[in-house]
Amino acid sequence: MPRKILCVVGARPNFMKVAPLLTAFRRRPETFDAKLIHTGQHYDAVMSDVFFEQLGMPAPDIHLGVGPGSHAAQTARIMVAFEEIVTEQKPDLVLVVGDVNSTIAAAIVSAKAGIPLAHVEAGLRSFDRRMPEEINRIVTDALASYLFVTEESGVENLAHEGADPTRIFLVGNVMIDTLDALLPRIRERHMAAELGLEAGSYGVVTLHRPSNVDDEPTLARLVGALERIGSRLPLVFPAHPRTRERLARNGLDKKLASSSVRVVEPLPYVEFISLVSESRLVLTDSGGIQEESTMLGIPCLTLRESTERPITISVGTNKLVGVDPEAAVDAVEAVLSAPRGELSYPPLWDGHAAERIAEILSGVELRPL
Ligand code: UD1
Repeated sequence: MPRKILCVVGARPNFMKVAPLLTAFRRRPETFDAKLIHTGQHYDAVMSDVFFEQLGMPAPDIHLGVGPGSHAAQTARIMVAFEEIVTEQKPDLVLVVGDVNSTIAAAIVSAKAGIPLAHVEAGLRSFDRRMPEEINRIVTDALASYLFVTEESGVENLAHEGADPTRIFLVGNVMIDTLDALLPRIRERHMAAELGLEAGSYGVVTLHRPSNVDDEPTLARLVGALERIGSRLPLVFPAHPRTRERLARNGLDKKLASSSVRVVEPLPYVEFISLVSESRLVLTDSGGIQEESTMLGIPCLTLRESTERPITISVGTNKLVGVDPEAAVDAVEAVLSAPRGELSYPPLWDGHAAERIAEILSGVELRPL
């Protein structure tokens, strides 16, 4: 009998992580019967549907349609709906990725139902519990039987927390599998030209972390920094719905409209990575973009005080800048005046992480913790 796996996705960064896993599982139909569950945490066409099309993902087998809400409300709604699915489907394994509310909700339900749990992208720690994602990571890892890790720091963090080493597997990065697979299409897309920009002559901005966009003074200071940077290097800013709403609420959208910072709608995957790949630098508070820019060799200035992905700094192109506007302006200046360094890539970020995970899951005896 094939092993029945429920793969759970909910938010934008989950889709590119699960796509290669689904492909790897479905390549072995005699071993796996993989089903895709979408919680509906993200629901807009631009935040969800378009990723399914571009990543070649099948429509979800089950859609829970939970939508937005406070952390407690959203997590609870996913738990209630997912518990019914687990009871009905009786999977051999639940697989979750990343650190969003859908991840922790499905993890708690599975653990309490006695279903073995696999966590892909386990072990990452920012050591900042003010980030909701950090809570989600710690709880999910504590409950998972199989901890699939992207970088060495994750192995060390899990060992430090006392995880049994036989649960920990350093496999590489499934998000990079997707980047690798779609690179030919990305290279053909030339999103910069479509926006009237010359390759290498602009920067890309993304901001959506609650700590940056929900606090008005912080957001206003960041916008001030972007305006100053924009006068040196034109910036394109595909804005997350949360950020767009905050900018409008505080009148900061008008400030940006009169600067060299172009706020655009969130972009689909291929268009976004194309834009980054031809940019001079990226300014972001995203986790995934720190990794993607590392693989593309694009300097990344992270507008946060911490990162859960330290390998993007030690091996990759990332630099932690914090949220001080002066520091951000200086960091951009430093990138623009420095020669481009030699590129190097984190170990195992080679496009084959999902296959390694499928191989491991085909051989282990599946049991709950
Ligand atoms: C979530 C993740 C975050 C991830 C981000 C990527 C958690 C705790 N956070 O944050 O780790 O980096 O996704 O995007 O899970 N909204 C829409 N349309 C959508 C989705 C959201 O308008 O399709 C609005 C919601 O109504 C809400 C806001 O955006 O007001 C935030 O959405 P939510 O899913 O709560 O968290 P994100 O900030 O997207």
